[in-house]
Amino acid sequence: MILELNNVTKSYSKNNLALDNFSLKIQRGVLGILGPNGAGKSTLIKLLSTMEKPLSGNIIYNGINIVKKPDYIRKDLGYLPQDFGTFNSLNAYEFLEYVAALKGLAGKGVEGKIDHMLRELNLSNVAKYQIGTYSGGMKQRLGIAQALINNPKVLILDEPTVGLDPEERIRFKELISDLGMDRIVIISSHIVSDIESVANQIVIMQNGSVLKQGNQLELLESMKGMVFELFIAHDKFLDFKTKNLVVSSVREQNGHRVRFIEKISSNEGIKVNATLEDLYIYLTKNRLL
Ligand SMILES: Nc1ncnc2c1ncn2[C@@H]1O[C@H](COP(=O)(O)OP(=O)(O)OP(=O)(O)O)[C@@H](O)[C@H]1O
Ligand SMILES: [Mg+2]
Repeated sequence: MILELNNVTKSYSKNNLALDNFSLKIQRGVLGILGPNGAGKSTLIKLLSTMEKPLSGNIIYNGINIVKKPDYIRKDLGYLPQDFGTFNSLNAYEFLEYVAALKGLAGKGVEGKIDHMLRELNLSNVAKYQIGTYSGGMKQRLGIAQALINNPKVLILDEPTVGLDPEERIRFKELISDLGMDRIVIISSHIVSDIESVANQIVIMQNGSVLKQGNQLELLESMKGMVFELFIAHDKFLDFKTKNLVVSSVREQNGHRVRFIEKISSNEGIKVNATLEDLYIYLTKNRLL
């Protein structure tokens, strides 16, 4: 199972490339796509789910160009768009029944599949309530359920954790890890902790391009020896901020406790272990020190 983008370009207007000569190889497992607003995550996902076509380049799924033959991947696809809309007058059960029918699942077994999905996404107790009465997080979970109903070989979820509470996030991560064992799962987010620990591969992107790609260990390795912590007096803080890339700071009575990134070994701070968040900020803030 392999999904590949080769030199893909996509633009919505003349002087703005949403994807810029983008290449990526996606294999079985969970791929996390991280990037700030406007990075091109949804564009990438829409192209993979064949909702949009690229300006140039190819997208190949198991050897077939799905730009030319979108049906080849559609039958294998489960997709949650970022702006997922539901039918507010249906209840969750009816909605999933409807989606199952659209996906060609009918007859015996559908009931069981729907019940299973409702249980997995913790919606069983509200399954008979109208969707219009649901909270944002409940609608999001229903969105994930509809993407999963046909047991897709390629599951693509655009910002699936939006609106989920901490407990649901943990449950969601467990579900995604399980699903990634035998299929391609692609999830996008701009929240590092949502991707961390669930993704086997991570792509950090901005301005339609890949900034960095790898597994967590590889990504963290690239930041080794670059992250420091230091306590700094109030009057020196502003100046320090202009000279260093401050990842986070906590104001205390006599000054600020800062976490910062330096490319050349620092004499000032105490070296600390880098996190994915550090790397993300380092790459997307694009500060060359
Ligand atoms: N339908 C559209 N028409 C015009 N421009 C668009 C359209 N969709 C996206 N864009 C532009 O393409 C670029 C990439 O947008 P995209 O939605 O793919 O980013 P994103 O990473 O998903 O952002 P977000 O985190 O806000 O969801 C942005 O500059 C955006 O303004
Ligand atoms: Mg988006």
